[in-house]
Amino acid sequence: MLSSLKNRSKDWRNRLIADPRFQRFAARYWPFRSVARRRAVQLFDLCAGFIYAQVLYACVQLELLPQLQAGEKSLHDLLPGSGLQPEALRRLLLAAVALDLLEQRATDRFALGPQGAAMLANPGIAAMVRHHRFLYQDLVDPLALLQGKQRPTRLQSFWRYALDNALHNELDIDMARNGDKDADKGSARDLDMDHAPAVGSSGAQTDDYQLYSELMAGSQHMIAEQVLNAYNFSSHRALLDVGGGLGEFLRRVGQRYPGLQLGLFDLPPVIETARQGFAGDKLVPRCFAGNFQHDALPSGFDLISLVRVLHDHDDAVVQQLLERCAQALPPGGRLLIAEPLAATPGAKAMGDAYFGLYLFAMGQGRPRTFKEYQGFLQQAGFYRVRRVKTSIPMLCSLLIATVKKKV
Ligand SMILES: C[S@@+](CC[C@H](N)C(=O)[O-])C[C@H]1O[C@@H](n2cnc3c(N)ncnc32)[C@H](O)[C@@H]1O
Repeated sequence: MLSSLKNRSKDWRNRLIADPRFQRFAARYWPFRSVARRRAVQLFDLCAGFIYAQVLYACVQLELLPQLQAGEKSLHDLLPGSGLQPEALRRLLLAAVALDLLEQRATDRFALGPQGAAMLANPGIAAMVRHHRFLYQDLVDPLALLQGKQRPTRLQSFWRYALDNALHNELDIDMARNGDKDADKGSARDLDMDHAPAVGSSGAQTDDYQLYSELMAGSQHMIAEQVLNAYNFSSHRALLDVGGGLGEFLRRVGQRYPGLQLGLFDLPPVIETARQGFAGDKLVPRCFAGNFQHDALPSGFDLISLVRVLHDHDDAVVQQLLERCAQALPPGGRLLIAEPLAATPGAKAMGDAYFGLYLFAMGQGRPRTFKEYQGFLQQAGFYRVRRVKTSIPMLCSLLIATVKKKV
């Protein structure tokens, strides 16, 4: 009753906003004028978002921000190596000024702007921007993407495990369809690799897992900081980071809690690279190479973390992985999940809009709400599922759950 009343009032509001006579009225009279102006700016930003992102991408490609780190420069200082004519570079610089990436200090003299300075403080963002080129190529025709007409996508090929999973699923369908024992002749090699980014090429090799692993390691400090500021690890003895990539999260937790024993679980090619990265370090986690879709997780840890892991897997894999976590943990052991959640106040666009389409292009996973995870966790044998506040929920939310006593 209440919700139908609410919906009727929203329908009335929408009819009003869509009425050109009301729009003319709102543009003229306070207080409607400031609301109308704010809405118009928001709508324009929605229309122009792709252009803004491309301006940022061009600045990152030309490394304009690091070039201005030491102080302001002239257009002519920035020309060499840009491959652009002065007028084209000026156009890009002025666009970057309009987006607060840069500041104009005098005619043809430029310095960092507040957003540009913030990006330099977080080098992982530039790496994220660079890899967006794969996503944007997939999104050139969003309907074709949503209709599934362009598989494998570029993004799927970037995230090699997503491509591996797609190949496996296709293989299963082929084998089920024709009972063909030779169906496993198909492999990454048979895919149209012209369609894929240059991440190695034929077949799965260690290199194919390196680009995404480095991207993740480069942006991990932002996530680890959120987690470390929100959760106290001191009551734990041993932490296993599942899907922990090159071990960057563990490095940061280990620096803050030197007494904590650390374990890293990831796919064999990723673990191989991680081991090399830890060579000579004081802090070396126990490394476990495996596939959480097929293998049990190692026991002996009283805390398991899943950082940016669950949202890029489908529901069945998530349910099974949570069950494997519950089996590996002792009664009372804890699970820590850190990732951006859907329907998060103040970060809704990041959940359903950004990750919704991102993960669709990746070919697996979806953004989930706290309530959805609560359901998965309870079914897997966890209780006391709670959400812990982080300072920037757009970057990640934090969920903590405890394993029930085994019967
Ligand atoms: C999005 S990355 C997150 C990496 C890291 N936790 C972070 O936040 O930087 C997902 C990680 O899960 C790993 N992964 C994906 N599927 C896996 C599987 N079936 N078994 C083990 N690890 C897997 C990937 O290799 C990758 O390191």
